[in-house]
Formats: sequence, structure tokens, C-alpha cells
Amino acid sequence: MVSVLFVCLGNICRSPMAEAIMRNKVEQAGLMEALSVDSAGTGDWHIGNGPHQGTREMLDLHNISYEGIKARQFAGPDFEKFDYIVCMDDSNLNNVKKIPGVKEEKLIKFMDLLPEHELREVPDPYFTGNFEQVYDLLEAGCQALLDKIRSERL
Ligand code: 4NP
Repeated sequence: MVSVLFVCLGNICRSPMAEAIMRNKVEQAGLMEALSVDSAGTGDWHIGNGPHQGTREMLDLHNISYEGIKARQFAGPDFEKFDYIVCMDDSNLNNVKKIPGVKEEKLIKFMDLLPEHELREVPDPYFTGNFEQVYDLLEAGCQALLDKIRSERL
């Protein structure tokens, strides 16, 4: 089983949207037994909460389920549990690198999945309000990640 963890700050906007999009792709590809997906935040403010309204609206629009997705905080054992740890921006990446037990070789910056794109970080829609922009980036990057995992691991 290959495992992917998406990481953002609050775990209510970007990383749960990525989790839902990736889970949908995995289901459509019939890879549920081969590839697991989760998300976490570096902050603790929203632990136990479901996705932000803006994230839910984008997922509803695209008929993608977010059932069962609840915010949790990233912790050291996640470095052991996951093969790919995908951070949404530079700040998330720096925060994760400070956590004891860090496995740098597992860390990916999300926008490095889309090397041609001018943006190098996934903007935080909690502050920008632009959930549509984030959906488009996450949809494209998750497809690139699935292709990468299939070529490397499956
Ligand atoms: P996310 O967005 O990291 O994409 O989930 C945020 C959600 C909440 C907060 C910041 C960013 N907050 O400060 O509560």
C-alpha cells in the first residue's frame, strides 16, 4: 500500500480539498487497495472540524465526496506512516521540517508537481477567498501526483 498525506496550515481548506480530489481519482482508477490518501494541518485550531464552506462548495460543484474528512494536526509519527508528504506552501514545508523525526526525502512541495505553472505555492483561500483557483491547481497537481506514483510505485 502506497500512502499520501497532504499538508496545509488549518486542514480545512487546501489539504482536505486535495484529499477529496485524490481519493476520487484513486476510486475512479480502481486503486483503492493500492493507494491511501489522508490530510493534516500544521496548526491545531480546527481539529475535528469538517472542510471549510468554500472547499465544500467546490467539491459539491464537481460531485466529489468529502464524507468522513475531519481536520487533524500533523505529528511526528506521520513521517513513518506516509510515503509521500505533500505540502501546499513554503511555510507548511518549513513547519513540517521543524518537527522531530523529519524524513526530508518524503517531502514534496505541491507546486513542484506542476513545474510549468507560474505559481510556486498553492495560495491560501482562507485569506484570498479564491477557492476556484485552488480547485484548478489541486485537480491538475493531483493528476500529476497520481501519474508520478503510478510510474514510481505501482
Ligand atoms: P488551510 O487554510 O491551511 O488551507 O486549511 C487555513 C485555514 C484556517 C486558518 C488558516 C489557513 N486559520 O488561521 O484558522
